[in-house]
Amino acid sequence: MTHHPRLDSEETVGSDVLDRGDEADRGVDGIRIVHLDKVFAAGRGQEFQAIRDVNLAAPRGAFVSLIGPSGCGKSTVLRILAGLDRATSGSVMVNGERVEPGHATAGMGIAFQDPALLPWRSVERNIALPLEIQGHKNDAAVRDLIALVGLAGFERSRPGQLSGGMRQRASIARALSVNPRFLLLDEPFGALDDMTRRHLNLELQRIWMQRATTTLMVTHGIAEAVLLSDYVAVMSAHPGHVVTMIPIDIPRPRTVQTMSTDAFHAYVDRLSGMLFSVSGEDRDGKPASDSGRAVQP
Ligand SMILES: Nc1ncnc2c1ncn2[C@@H]1O[C@H](COP(=O)(O)OP(=O)(O)O)[C@@H](O)[C@H]1O
Ligand SMILES: [Mg+2]
Repeated sequence: MTHHPRLDSEETVGSDVLDRGDEADRGVDGIRIVHLDKVFAAGRGQEFQAIRDVNLAAPRGAFVSLIGPSGCGKSTVLRILAGLDRATSGSVMVNGERVEPGHATAGMGIAFQDPALLPWRSVERNIALPLEIQGHKNDAAVRDLIALVGLAGFERSRPGQLSGGMRQRASIARALSVNPRFLLLDEPFGALDDMTRRHLNLELQRIWMQRATTTLMVTHGIAEAVLLSDYVAVMSAHPGHVVTMIPIDIPRPRTVQTMSTDAFHAYVDRLSGMLFSVSGEDRDGKPASDSGRAVQP
């Protein structure tokens, strides 16, 4: 079943979320991105607008996925949310607190595409690092996380001795180690094989359901986005903005069986159609010059 995307609608950008009465008890201030722009200096006095007027709102505790063509500015949005980069204009709030660049947002866990583990530290000491920095050593918690991501037996290994997928799992465990109230994930499962990816998807859902962590995940995996998310936000091609955010109304916990239901396939088809549409046009309706590389598998 294929749905036609509604790219022109005002249903978009989270305003519908804010109006939903049933979300009132969870609060609507989980993620609030308002009129966000980012212009990079591109050398020789040139400027490059990476994102333009990004708006997104989601309730506290929500799991939100961000999908969009390669280069549309997804990582830029995440870096600004993480306080790692400064917005050119606009504002960003997380769990009711304004994000300030250079100031770590309290209770934030981050796992980026590049696992960025410290090569001289073992797996367990990499995972323990955020806790050590906070002065909360907790060996039991680290052991639990290692088991959770399936790295038992590799505690003492160095990152260089692990496969790419194992390094990513260590990176996810490290992000979870601080028991985050806000979790930012940038294509965290990108390098994993399908089986491992699905397994970790379901583990992530389990952890998320236990802890009600406000989560924003960038992904190329539409099925993964539908499986995990309360809302999927779709960004247009560069300069990116959020064209729509659709609620995923499938009961939890979602399972492997969920993925063979009509409802699941309908969401995947609808989002695939939207992604295809936004990849072929920029926001002014002109054909994008890079549409060929825009849609990722
Ligand atoms: N520090 C930077 N300086 C200049 N341009 C950048 C910088 N970071 C990202 N960009 C550009 O901004 C655009 C969006 O990048 P990014 O947010 O990484 O996209 P995505 O994550 O959606 O693939 C890209 O064209 C990229 O080259
Ligand atoms: Mg990116």
